[in-house]
Amino acid sequence: MPPLFDKILQYLPLPRVLSPLPDFMLAISVGLLPTLYALWSDPSLLFHFKRLQQVFQSNFWGFFGPEVDKGGAPVKIVLLPYAEGVVLEIGAGHGHSLKYMKRDKITKYYALEPNTDMWPELRKALVDAGFSEEKGEAVILPYGAGDVSKIVEQLGGENQVDTLISVLVLCSVPDAKDVLPELCQRLLKKGGSLLMYEHCLSPVPSSRLYQRLWTPIWSIVFDGCRLDKDTMTWVNQIKWSDKHVWRKEGEPEWSLFFHGVGRFTL
Ligand SMILES: C[S@@+](CC[C@H](N)C(=O)[O-])C[C@H]1O[C@@H](n2cnc3c(N)ncnc32)[C@H](O)[C@@H]1O
Repeated sequence: MPPLFDKILQYLPLPRVLSPLPDFMLAISVGLLPTLYALWSDPSLLFHFKRLQQVFQSNFWGFFGPEVDKGGAPVKIVLLPYAEGVVLEIGAGHGHSLKYMKRDKITKYYALEPNTDMWPELRKALVDAGFSEEKGEAVILPYGAGDVSKIVEQLGGENQVDTLISVLVLCSVPDAKDVLPELCQRLLKKGGSLLMYEHCLSPVPSSRLYQRLWTPIWSIVFDGCRLDKDTMTWVNQIKWSDKHVWRKEGEPEWSLFFHGVGRFTL
């Protein structure tokens, strides 16, 4: 956001409702044409709305993902080097998180990614990060976060994961309030950690209202992503033995993309 616009929003709550508009318009202008082309090539997509959303998401993420990654880098540089042992990343996307992890601390990396259009970029990121799928060092699973039993089956049983990574994905997970504790309790080993960086419901009442106003249209365009998920509250309700929660530096609480960051140990 331009600095002047930022300054105005700091003092005037009402115009904050418009703050997601520039990104929203840009995403549509970037994602629309390739999505229409995909629809032209395969008109049956019209009857598979979820798939159509995924096509849009992978196209717009190819353009936006690197910028969003850059914006989150100061947080990820601190958070993601804690990944160790068996790591499972929820909604790995194009694999942006991989470059922040320390390869030699990781014995096996599982990427949960239900959108197969994301896989080619994800595979490139795996290679760049020094993981070989052929050698079984990394596995891509086509499941959503809610498919907990299928994930457990792939892992060979419950409580096999040392580090669970959740970066900008719980916003898109249906029933995340229930799915998050189930994932942590059934996947993590005792002493395992969740590394989380998510945009959440803002603590500022007017911003919460604006997040709720935007969510119906935002979630249609961005593959189910909701701006109004109270993820920070839900993660804090899980019984952790240790937790470190911090804020994204410089981010105002009124931001409609207010982020929750933390390292939570079971
Ligand atoms: C905004 S992108 C973030 C990608 C990656 N975590 C990053 O930070 O670069 C959200 C990702 O979550 C995936 N996703 C959407 N719904 C999901 C679900 N129910 N379970 C797991 N992943 C999901 C999308 O396909 C997409 O790759």
